[in-house]
Amino acid sequence: MNNIDLNGKVAAITGGTRGIGRGIAEAFLSAGASISLNGRSAEKGEAALNEMGAPERTAFFSGDVKHQQDVEAFVAQTIERFGQIDILVNNAGGSSGFALIEDLSDDAWQEAAAWILHSCFWATRAALKDMRKRNWGRIINISSVEGRQANKATASHYITFKHAMNGFTKAVAFEYGEMGITSNAISPGAVETDLMIETGPVAAESMGLTYEQFKDNYAQEAAIKRLNTVEEVSGLALYLVSDMGAGVTGAIMPVDGGTAL
Ligand SMILES: NC(=O)c1ccc[n+]([C@@H]2O[C@H](COP(=O)([O-])OP(=O)(O)OC[C@H]3O[C@@H](n4cnc5c(N)ncnc54)[C@H](OP(=O)(O)O)[C@@H]3O)[C@@H](O)[C@H]2O)c1
Repeated sequence: MNNIDLNGKVAAITGGTRGIGRGIAEAFLSAGASISLNGRSAEKGEAALNEMGAPERTAFFSGDVKHQQDVEAFVAQTIERFGQIDILVNNAGGSSGFALIEDLSDDAWQEAAAWILHSCFWATRAALKDMRKRNWGRIINISSVEGRQANKATASHYITFKHAMNGFTKAVAFEYGEMGITSNAISPGAVETDLMIETGPVAAESMGLTYEQFKDNYAQEAAIKRLNTVEEVSGLALYLVSDMGAGVTGAIMPVDGGTAL
């Protein structure tokens, strides 16, 4: 396999300080890219930069992707710091207020829309304007196995906007394919990150399960009978931004251990 060389490339990763986004950032950094991270907590951002230990090639800008001005500022700050943006990973996403549809609040619905879908649109729109200047770009949207199936009660908002993210991924691929810009989604299965540790117990309770039963349900759903790992997701992201991945666009690629078969 070719060595993957991202020297001279600039990657912006929303929600890049922890979990899957952080794993992708580390993989791109190891391949030579400069990395711009976003997240709400300045403390997590500072810790991430310290742990990555490459001050010339890493930056953190705090912001909440649920807010349009924060997302647009993140893209602008990345370009200001590193001169351009070549790779965008729309990773930050989530939902709260899990409930059956008849009880799902407007707030929970709108929050999930902004967190998962609108943030992806705002960041992509801003980044495309810069990518077009060089006719080169890689956009990766971190969707979910729940964007390919609808078998979890009380998570209809998360399921709906992850499905929508997949549609947007394809629309970007169609409009920008001739301009050297690819757009793909990765659909991870369950990975035990902070997100799962923090929201899993609440989601489990709303489903009448313990957290251990909740995790085991995910493992049993998969052909591999275990959860996925951050490294399994970041490995695919690295392939997609490499020269080897240049011919792949508009794809919704599972890393779910054979869950949504
Ligand atoms: N873990 C899974 O099982 C799983 C499975 C499928 C898909 N996914 C998807 O993978 C993505 C990452 O999830 P993860 O499990 O890696 O989560 P995580 O471990 O909780 O990490 C999330 C990262 O995003 C940041 N973040 C969260 N909300 C944000 C917001 N509103 N604005 C800006 N930054 C934000 C967090 O930092 P701050 O807290 O400081 O903001 C952190 O850096 C999500 O889109 C999720 O839906 C996860």
